[in-house]
This record gives sequence, structure tokens and C-alpha cells, in this order.
Amino acid sequence: MSENILDIKDLRTSFFVEGNEIKAVDGVTFQVPKGKTLGIVGESGSGKSISALSVLQLIDDPGKIVGGSIRFKDEELTTAKTSRMRNIRGNEISMIFQEPMTSLNPVYTIGQQLREAYKIHQGLGKKEGTKRSIEMLELVGIPSPEKRVDQYPYELSGGMRQRVMIAMALACKPELLIADEPTTALDVTIQAQILELIKNLQEEIGMSVVMITHDLGVVAETCDYVAVMYCGKVVEFADVETLFENPRHPYTVGLLSSLPRHDIDQDELVPIKGNVPAPDEMPSGCRFAPRCPHASAICSELPELETQEDGNDVRCWIYTEQWDGEKGVKVYDNETTS
Ligand SMILES: Nc1ncnc2c1ncn2[C@@H]1O[C@H](COP(=O)(O)OP(=O)(O)O)[C@@H](O)[C@H]1O
Ligand code: SF4
Ligand SMILES: [Mg+2]
Repeated sequence: MSENILDIKDLRTSFFVEGNEIKAVDGVTFQVPKGKTLGIVGESGSGKSISALSVLQLIDDPGKIVGGSIRFKDEELTTAKTSRMRNIRGNEISMIFQEPMTSLNPVYTIGQQLREAYKIHQGLGKKEGTKRSIEMLELVGIPSPEKRVDQYPYELSGGMRQRVMIAMALACKPELLIADEPTTALDVTIQAQILELIKNLQEEIGMSVVMITHDLGVVAETCDYVAVMYCGKVVEFADVETLFENPRHPYTVGLLSSLPRHDIDQDELVPIKGNVPAPDEMPSGCRFAPRCPHASAICSELPELETQEDGNDVRCWIYTEQWDGEKGVKVYDNETTS
């Protein structure tokens, strides 16, 4: 068995709208080592959610996986049968969605839904299942869990429903948990509790995690590796220490100074200039060129994702022998962020 629980190569997922192809995920490559946590970061619209949904074959019309491979353990998922995918979802791979309301069944109580998960995945009977459900609701920070367990989803606030979803996703003890901005809508205390819960379960059952987040503090606290996405592509893949101490891609550098971090004192947030290009205005070369302070003539061609000496990957001409721009260009200055 391979040591990567998930191995995605050159994944392409597009939406076909009014005769145009929108390349939401445009050749994404990354790996999740077994038992580890991979963070996926990038501005809104970079293809993080669509990558995650592609893994579970949850892309609906007009979207479609048009190329590449997704290997889960030693099984190819892009060609897996619908019945097999149904079995994988919620058993071997659990996902916590950005939009929690759509994933709870409105006609069953919270307790009925949690008990069902415990029955299917852990063979627990009604009494044991109810006990475990209440414990789990308590663990995810829901007040008066004995009362909440008999309520319906509409009786709970958005933040509480999200915590119920997290309880559901963890109830089956998945081998891989994909969490798409799981704590964004929650307050900091609950957020810390939930990250702790995920971490504990990870240690207990050796679960692997894909953590999609725009919060670099969450990345620093929970991730072992990080994939930075921009315009449907991975522009940098690095172990978490390297990412924070020696980020290579100019976009990563921009993100580090524009997004809130909990690990250092930031005097001010410096936004990356410009905007993410619209799909019909996508540059043919490096997607980041219109916003990059180091762009040079060669950047009108698309650089490859290339592995560096330390094993991390970066997609930028600066890190190639062909670089024709300013010599010794420094993309990161520790002084400015500490
Ligand atoms: N239903 C859809 N129809 C057309 N395009 C879509 C649809 N869903 C997503 N996209 C395209 O895919 C891109 C990436 O979306 P998404 O993965 O949700 O971004 P992220 O999660 O990084 O914010 C979007 O910018 C959009 O162009
Ligand atoms: S390839 Fe060129 S434009 Fe793109 S990030 Fe690197 S230096 Fe900037
Ligand atoms: Mg998203």
C-alpha cells in the first residue's frame, strides 16, 4: 500500500456554461500522506471546493471531471462506480461542507441522524447511540445536548448546525476527513474546540485530513503540508514550516502578508494588488503575472510545478534556470513580517 492516502494528479474539472468551458480545477496535483493533515489555501474562487467535491464525485451538471487521476489508497476514484462511491462517502471519506444546511435532513431530528450514523458505522443500538450522540454534541460545544438531540435542524442556529455536521462527519471515524472551511462561521472558542476534536480523533484512529481554509492561523496550528491554489492550479506545495519560513511563490508571499496569522504579530495586512482574473480573462502564461511584483518576459509562458531540492514544489519561473528577470530577486523578506 502506498504511503499517500490520497494522490491527485493533473486533476481537471470544468463547468460548461453557454458554450464556454470554465476550468475551475485546471491541472491540480497534490498528495495527502497517511495520518497527516494537508491544508489547501487560496483566495475565493481558486478551485478549493471544486477539488474537494471532485474527490467525492459530487460535481453536478454543468460540471464534469475532464481529466487526471484521483487515487484513494490504491483505488482510482475518477472511474469508480456510483455504488462504490456511495459506499466510500461517509464510510471511508467524510466531508464537512461549507454550506451545512444543505447536508442535514430536515425531516429527522439531530438525534435520529446521529444515531443512524453510529448504527451504520459502529453498530451501536438505540440506547448506546443516543448516549454517544449526546456526548458528541457536547464535545462539539452544543449547550444542553440532551435537549438539542430531540430537535430538528431548523430549530438550531447556523453555527450549531455546522457543529452537528462536524459531529456527524466524525461519527463514522473516517480514514480521510475533508473539511471545507469548517470553522469559518464559528466563534474562536468553538473553533479551537473543534480543531482539537479533529486532532484528537486523528491521533486516536490515524485519520488523514484535508483542511480547506483561508485562515493561516488554522494552517499553522493544524497542518503538516500545505497546497496553495491560484486560479485552478497549485502554485506551491510545501511542508508547513517551509511555507511560513521560506515561502517561494510570490502569491504565497502575498497571502502571508494579506491574511490574518495567529503565529506572529502583524502590524498591518497588506492586500495583494489587483483581483483574481475572470475566467474569460485568464492569462495564458503564469496566472499570477498581472498581479506579480516580479513578472518578467518569460512569465507570458506558463511555468510547470517543479520539485525543489527540499522536496517541495513551486510553479514559478524564478525557481528555474530559464529565469530571465532580475537576478537574485527576493520574494520574501522576514524583516517585514516579524
Ligand atoms: N456551478 C458552477 N457553475 C459554473 N462555474 C462554477 C460553478 N461552481 C464553481 N465554478 C467555478 O469554479 C471556480 C472555483 O470554485 P470553488 O472551487 O468553489 O472556489 P473556492 O472554493 O476556492 O472558493 C469559481 O471561481 C467558478 O468560476
Ligand atoms: S512565474 Fe513570473 S509572474 Fe508568475 S509568480 Fe513567478 S515571477 Fe511572478
Ligand atoms: Mg470554497
